[in-house]
Order: sequence, then C-alpha cells, then structure tokens
Amino acid sequence: MTEKLLLRALKGETLPVPPVWMMRQAGRYLPEYRATRAHAGSFLDLCYNPELATEVTLQPIRRYGFDAAILFADILLVPQALGANLTFVQGEGPRLSTVTSAADLAKLGPLDNIDEVLSPIYETVKMLRRELPADVPLIGFAGAPWTVATYMIAGKGTPDQAPARRLMYGDPATFEALLDRITEATIHYLLKQIEAGAEVVKMFDSWAGALPGPVFAKYAIAPAKRIVDAIRAEHPDLPIIGFPRGAGRNYATYVQATGVQGVALDTSVDPAWAARELQPHACVQGNLDPLLLVQGGEALTLAAKQVVKGFSGGPHIFNLGHGITPDADPENVHRMLEAVRG
Ligand code: CP3
Repeated sequence: MTEKLLLRALKGETLPVPPVWMMRQAGRYLPEYRATRAHAGSFLDLCYNPELATEVTLQPIRRYGFDAAILFADILLVPQALGANLTFVQGEGPRLSTVTSAADLAKLGPLDNIDEVLSPIYETVKMLRRELPADVPLIGFAGAPWTVATYMIAGKGTPDQAPARRLMYGDPATFEALLDRITEATIHYLLKQIEAGAEVVKMFDSWAGALPGPVFAKYAIAPAKRIVDAIRAEHPDLPIIGFPRGAGRNYATYVQATGVQGVALDTSVDPAWAARELQPHACVQGNLDPLLLVQGGEALTLAAKQVVKGFSGGPHIFNLGHGITPDADPENVHRMLEAVRG
C-alpha cells in the first residue's frame, strides 16, 4: 500500500507535486454546505451532529479531490465543554461568557466532564474514518491555549486581543491558571480524537501574532510543546502541525522548540526565508492569499504556481495562508488545483 501523500510530506519527503487541502475547506463558500447547514439549524447544532458534520467534511473531498479532510468542528467547543456559555450570532461571530477573575475560573467545570459535551465529535471522527476514501487522511484539530483563552477572556473575537493581554499583565495567576486548564483539556481532546481515528492533528494559534515578543515563548511555545510532548508520549509517529499565525521570525523558534512535524504559514511569511529557516526542520504548509480565491483569474494561477515553486526544494503541503472566505468562488478552487497539480 502506498502511504497517503500528506503523511509522506509530514515525514519529511519532498514530493514532485505537493498534497493539497484548504483551511476552512468545508464552509459557506460551498452551496452544498449552506444547504446542509440550513437543514441542521445553528452552526453548533451542525458541529454536534455526527451524520451532518461527516457530510460537510466529505463535501469538499467529493467536489475537489483534496489530499486531506479536516474534521468539521470548532476551536470554541473546548471552552463550551469546560462550562462557558457559547453561541454564534449570525454575521457577528462567537459570543461566550467571560473569564476575567479567579471567581470566573472557579465556576468552570472539571476536566472529567468535558467528554459529556465532546463525545459527538469523537463519533464524527469514527464515521469519517469509515467513509473517507482510502487515500485521504483525516486531520483532527484544536485551538492552541492562547488563542482559545483570548475568546474566553473577551467573550468574543477582538482585533487586538487587548482583554486577554490586560488579564495577562493585571492578574497573571488567573491568566496562567486558565491557560493551564485549556492546555489539559486540549491534550485530552486531541488524544481522544486520535483514538477515534484522526491521523494528523493541527493546533490553531490564530492570534499568536498578538503576543508581545517577551512572552511568546511562555504563552505560545510552552503550551504547544506540552501538547506535542503529551501526544508524542502515546503516539510517537503521529504528525502534528502547528499554526502560530502572525509569529513572524518567531516561526523559527516555534518550530525548533516545539518539535512539530508540520508548520502552517500565514500569508505574510516570505517563502525564501521559510525555505531556508523552517523547511530543514519541518514540512511547511501554505501559504496562498485566500483573497485570490475571490479574485481568481491569472493572478490566482501565477500566485499558486509561485507558492509551489518557492517550496519545491523540501517537504510542502499546499494550502492557504488562512481560511477560505464565504465570498470565494468555488470555480476558483478548481483553477487553483489546476495550477498546483497541472
Ligand atoms: O473546514 C475546516 O477548516 C474545519 C472546520 C473549522 C471551523 N472552524 C468551522 C467554522 C475549523 C478548523 C475552525 C477553526 C477555528 N474556529 C479557528 C482557527 C482558525 C482561524 O480561522 O484562524 C477560529 C479562530 C475559530 C473561531 C470561530 N469559528 C470564529 C471566530 C467564527 C466566526 C467567524 C466566521 O467565519 O463566521 C467561527 C465560525 C465557523 N467555524 C464557521 C465554520 C464553517 C462559520 C459558521 C457558519 O456556518 O455560520
């Protein structure tokens, strides 16, 4: 049996054509996703419905033949499992009950209870492993502790993560206890996804770039390394992808200090720098500008070919620098694949 392309790239192999998948590949740009979502009810109803979550995970695989599937869920299910009240307001994004004091932290539930909320997700993973084509691996995921904490502290998405940074300076004991709690829950959650059949896991640290330089090691790298070490202790060969979005030059420190096999690059990362500084240590994933899937045309073809060329000297997984947006044209994804695969 030939091994799945994505797993080969993550083991360090340089492939003639990179495997391809897209962040947010199951999502609102697809008419079939919007139809299933309308049938499911709310976004959270869809996340917790194993049959329908399996269906939307498979939709982009059927339409485009991607080289990997990513579990349909959300990074904010972990706070919800810890007892935060979570809703998604149409057009406005997530709303959560906030954690800004030791008293709020004490109100969160114990780790032992999180599977009461999260067990449907493990069911989705099991169903997906039965239904995915034999050559398509399944990626499980979770938010990195800092990014999850930013939503729990602010109670919503913020442009600059100011509420989380203020707690970090104003009440470091509560801030660190919260990060710790999220880290432990995340380790448990990812191990359960792996036991259910996830073949790769990805940690989304979408707001890593908002961490000030002096605390990047403490609040982005250390929790990520704890998660990597805990997974590796039980599953030494399971590849882990980190995504410290916006980390700039700290990408290099992150890769070397955490020991991740894969690193997802945001749009701002210079390919020549990454080829030199990151690719010798890890498989790089990225980093086409998602806006090109709205724009399309020759600009898309040229940029996609440039990404392939820039990373052709080492292990590479073709992807976007961030998620595909709801206004992207599904036809442009075909154009992107044509440019990558020829
Ligand atoms: O296809 C996939 O990538 C798998 C599913 C997935 C979703 N969210 C589904 C989703 C994954 C991997 C995520 C991760 C996630 N969720 C992140 C990290 C990645 C990133 O985008 O930086 C973050 C920060 C979240 C939190 C989140 N979820 C926000 C801020 C929002 C609202 C903004 C928006 O795009 O609407 C969501 C909602 C969400 N998560 C949707 C999807 C498909 C849209 C919900 C809908 O159908 O209405």
